[in-house]
Amino acid sequence: MERKNVITTDMSREVVTLKMKKCIVLSVLCVLLLCLYNGWLRVPGGLTPINPTALCNRSTNTSRNVTILLWYWPFSVSDNLEGHVCWDLYRIPRCSLVDKRSLFSSADVVVFHNRELIQGRQELPFALPRPQCQRWAWMSLEAPVHNGNLRPFADIFNMTITYRRDSDVTAPYGELLPKETGGHLVANDLRNKSSLVCWVVSNYQSYHKRSQVYSELNAAVPVKVYGQWTKNSLSSTDLLPTISRCYFYLAFENSLSKDYITEKLWKNAYQGGAVPVVLGPPLSDYKAVAPPNSFIHVDEFASVKELGKYLQELAKDKKRYNEYFSWQQEWKVKLNTDWRERLCKICLKYNSLPQHKVYSDLSAWAHSD
Ligand SMILES: *[C@@H]1O[C@H](CO)[C@@H](O)[C@H](O)[C@H]1NC(C)=O
Ligand SMILES: *[C@@H]1O[C@H](CO)[C@@H](O)[C@H](O)[C@H]1NC(C)=O
Ligand SMILES: *[C@@H]1O[C@H](CO)[C@@H](O)[C@H](O)[C@H]1NC(C)=O
Ligand SMILES: *[C@@H]1O[C@H](CO)[C@@H](O)[C@H](O)[C@H]1NC(C)=O
Ligand SMILES: *[C@@H]1O[C@H](CO)[C@@H](O)[C@H](O)[C@H]1NC(C)=O
Repeated sequence: MERKNVITTDMSREVVTLKMKKCIVLSVLCVLLLCLYNGWLRVPGGLTPINPTALCNRSTNTSRNVTILLWYWPFSVSDNLEGHVCWDLYRIPRCSLVDKRSLFSSADVVVFHNRELIQGRQELPFALPRPQCQRWAWMSLEAPVHNGNLRPFADIFNMTITYRRDSDVTAPYGELLPKETGGHLVANDLRNKSSLVCWVVSNYQSYHKRSQVYSELNAAVPVKVYGQWTKNSLSSTDLLPTISRCYFYLAFENSLSKDYITEKLWKNAYQGGAVPVVLGPPLSDYKAVAPPNSFIHVDEFASVKELGKYLQELAKDKKRYNEYFSWQQEWKVKLNTDWRERLCKICLKYNSLPQHKVYSDLSAWAHSD
């Protein structure tokens, strides 16, 4: 009050109103910025607005095309999406796979690869109006320890795409397909087998469980080791021919997590033609995806020493050893390496997904056993 009375001249009044105007403009700007920052205001981003419930109606029509939008390519490596990729390459019908962000508002599923999110290289499009019934999918092929901190991603995603069998869409590193024509057992030629046990390791860490098992096994039987940390580095073209000369291949995963079974089994061992000795998730996880009598699980033995003894005996018994290959009469291995195929597979599951699903605690889900 006192101050008001002090200001008497027109000049000072003008100065005050100018100051007040500046103050008001600044405040409005501040509030706007705050709103934007907190996501209270949404920027349309030049996209055609659509009826927010349109996708809901469409998502009950099973004879229409499902649109999968990949928001950015994993590891920044893009692939060709021209034509009707899902149908042309994988014979998956009514499935449109796109990577154009302008198609956001009409996409049934938007897919986000975890690596770029946790690295901060990509962000979720919170600024866009998220159509009701649009599903956001979280995709990762890493073991839990390599997924980073997932706590910020609570209550965001509706779907998961991982190697886990309990994901909404399972994307295993490899799988078996039945052989169309019944094969016959091709006796494995053992003449070229020159090593009992082989291990290929590029990332050797002494704290890994697999390193301890290797040390113990190597104390019992000879283990030939290849890989970057040894002098026996292997080129990718030498990998399978080298493994084919071993009776057994140590398909040891670096992370022991539910369903985490990588190309070490599917490619290195099965395609290399050595019997896999596996260390990874529990025996039951392997039994769920791999044929019986096609692998040897470390947990099946009371000690690593006994495992070594078993391997030595088995290599000497040609008939019993060859029985570990009899699954090849009925099955062939398929390696999964193409992101497009994983994404097209969403369409196969789409109509059987629950109408409503939210991963309220993605971190807990990702770390659960
Ligand atoms: C969706 O379906 C409901 C009832 O089935 C209807 O009232 C509504 O208009 C539809 N919305 C759109 C966008 O088609
Ligand atoms: C379902 O989708 C197909 C293809 O878009 C369309 O021809 C058909 O009319 C739709 N059915 C209903 C009930 O909306
Ligand atoms: C659905 O996609 C196929 C290609 O996969 C295309 O030929 C067809 O025109 C599309 N149908 C509709 C209704 O969009
Ligand atoms: C054994 O290896 C040699 C050279 O590595 C190859 O030429 C030969 O075909 C192999 N024999 C069998 C039976 O695989
Ligand atoms: C997807 O998740 C969002 C965010 O929690 C939620 O609002 C929406 O209803 C969910 N949609 C479906 C189809 O489950």
